Formats: sequence, structure tokens, C-alpha cells
Amino acid sequence: MKLTKQEEMRMEIRFVTKDDLYRIAEMTRDLTLHMGAFEWTVENHLKHVKRRFSNPRYIHLVAIIDGKIIGFTGAELKSKRTAYMLKGYVEPSYRRKRVMRQMEGKLVEILQEKGVSKIDLKVDTNNKEGKSTWIALGYTTIRETMRKQI
Ligand SMILES: CC(C)(COP(=O)(O)OP(=O)(O)OC[C@H]1O[C@@H](n2cnc3c(N)ncnc32)[C@H](O)[C@@H]1OP(=O)(O)O)[C@@H](O)C(=O)NCCC(=O)NCCS
Repeated sequence: MKLTKQEEMRMEIRFVTKDDLYRIAEMTRDLTLHMGAFEWTVENHLKHVKRRFSNPRYIHLVAIIDGKIIGFTGAELKSKRTAYMLKGYVEPSYRRKRVMRQMEGKLVEILQEKGVSKIDLKVDTNNKEGKSTWIALGYTTIRETMRKQI
């Protein structure tokens, strides 16, 4: 279900500020738990979030409804023309309401203004919702990573 007209009017997408970093770290913790990657504390994530925030190669965006951050995404500028998408996260109760579609659209606009023409990202094969989202937003598979457990 899409956001209601009222929710859509109330949703703001803006650059991350210093005050948002703890919330971003919390969502990054939930994102890594969702992917079954590793179980870091929010404080651990916060160190990395702060490091990226202070690096001008990184762009971070948040989606806000009624003053509450409900999602984030971002990108790292890799070269003049290429950026790397920092995945992203949307609070479960706001999923399938086009929040990521709108954040990614805004990110694309910002990157295009900087001369970027290609965005790369990595997604776990078993992350069905992640993969479906990137496909819906126009990303295609150009390379596959293989692994053998030994
Ligand atoms: C992936 C994620 C960010 C998507 O955010 P979202 O705001 O729900 O995505 P949107 O509503 O903008 O979806 C855009 C399109 O992606 C596709 N899509 C999104 N979620 C999907 C799902 N669960 N199943 C199938 N397709 C899906 C749809 O085509 C959708 O368009 P539609 O609703 O008009 O059909 C969100 O599900 C999430 O935070 N998941 C957990 C963290 C994660 O996996 N992040 C990505 C790591 S690579």
C-alpha cells in the first residue's frame, strides 16, 4: 500500500545531520541483523557511521515523517562517474509504501548533479526484498560473487 496523500505530504527526504547519527546507527544495526551478517552494538555501528559522515565522499539521506526518521540510504563517490550505493533501510511498518523508491530517486538526482552516471551495489542473493527492490528501481546484475565453505 502506498503512503496516504497526507503521509506523502508529511514525508521529507533530506541530508543527514549530526543529530541523526545515533538513529542511523540503530537502523544499521537492524539492517545487519536482518541480513544475518554480524551482531554489533549500536555504539559499534555509531563509530563507523560517524567516520563515514565526516568523509565528504559519502552522501547520506534520511526519510522523515512527523519528525521521526523512518528510513535511510546513501552512496559513496568512488570515481568521477561511479558511485557505490550504501544499501539502506526502511522501518518495517513503512515498507512497501515507496519510501525507498523516493529516497533512491532523490539520491540519483544528487549524484547526477555531481556527474555520476553509474551506481553499483551489492545485495545478498537470499535477501529477496532487497533484490526485488533494486530490480524494481532499475538495477541489473552485472557480476556474481561465488563462495565455497571450507
Ligand atoms: C529493501 C527495503 C529498503 C525496501 O524499502 P521500501 O520502502 O519498502 O521499498 P519501496 O516501497 O520503495 O519499494 C519499491 C519497489 O521495490 C519492490 N519491492 C520492495 N519490497 C518488496 C518485497 N518485499 N517483495 C517484492 N518486491 C518488493 C516493489 O516493486 C516496489 O514497488 P511497488 O511497491 O510499487 O510494487 C526494505 O524492505 C528494507 O528496509 N528491508 C530490510 C533491509 C534491507 O534488506 N535493505 C536492503 C539491503 S541490500
